[in-house]
Amino acid sequence: MRISEKPVAARLKELGVELRAGVSLSEKTSLGIGGTTDELLLRRFDTIPEVMRLLANEKIPHRFLGGGTNVLIDDGELPWVVLHLPTSQPGMRVEGNAAYVDAAADLGGMVTFCAKHDLGGMEGLIGVPGSVGGALRMNAGAYGTQIGSYVREVELYRVASGEIETVRGNDIRFDYRHTSFAPDDVMLRVKLELPSKPFKEILAGIRVCNEKRRASQPLNQKSAGCIFKNPAGGSAGRMIDELGLKGHRAGDAMVSDRHANFFINAGTASCADMLRLIDDVRERVHKKFGVELENEVILWKN
Ligand code: EPU
Repeated sequence: MRISEKPVAARLKELGVELRAGVSLSEKTSLGIGGTTDELLLRRFDTIPEVMRLLANEKIPHRFLGGGTNVLIDDGELPWVVLHLPTSQPGMRVEGNAAYVDAAADLGGMVTFCAKHDLGGMEGLIGVPGSVGGALRMNAGAYGTQIGSYVREVELYRVASGEIETVRGNDIRFDYRHTSFAPDDVMLRVKLELPSKPFKEILAGIRVCNEKRRASQPLNQKSAGCIFKNPAGGSAGRMIDELGLKGHRAGDAMVSDRHANFFINAGTASCADMLRLIDDVRERVHKKFGVELENEVILWKN
């Protein structure tokens, strides 16, 4: 969607928003897939309600993009603009056992920053790519750790009220790759409470998780992590592997030959290729195991 020639562009500029016209989102996602649209970079948290009101009044569809590591975006000219949250460096600070982190900050960066302040618990999250906001929204987890366990407060923009609100951790439900946030809540900042742990001990834990990940996941290929959620008591990766589907393709979309629940872009895969592969694998799993796999990757398609 192109808005740079519209009067609203000048209003957005007054609010400190930087507009980048015609950006290919394939450069913004870990899958290397995604069409083209205008991109809006927000510079200040306090202008968010006004920017959002403006976009709503002008009927400009929009979506917030975080790290782009768990999203599959449609091909071609996209019917919405993409928003990016304000970032600062390092975007996080520690006070006692509390860490205050911007949603746009890097998740792995947060784990190491806290480690350097002798705050641990999140070692398992070290290799999970993406932003803190994305991790919060879907309660990212790995190796027995999930971010939700440490959340004490989330500051968010709530579309329903048009305000920035602070929600207490106890009032949020964090389930397996799912949270009770409203779908259009925009994560802004989080307060975490973390256990004290010596840096050396945290580092040892981080090394173990990195090793496990390197041994089982295709880290240097373009992917969005696991494509499907694990069904209760089962493993999507194991089922797909048992069907002999490693290396199975639809165009340049391919089931990783390292971990069968990672689908990779082996060249110039389109969103359509990836969707064909997802549907094909889902059907085969259903036929063989009677299990309907649910996407873990978030699909941006109208
Ligand atoms: N397996 C196979 N073949 C494969 C892949 C896995 O047989 O190709 C078997 C493994 O040998 C193991 C079992 O399946 O016995 C489970 O595999 P793994 O330990 O790799 O874990 P997973 O359940 O596939 C989950 C998360 C990952 C997370 C790891 C480590 C989901 C959907 N996936 O994977 O998260 O990194 O555990 O904690 O919950 C993600 O969310 O994007 C993601 C990668």
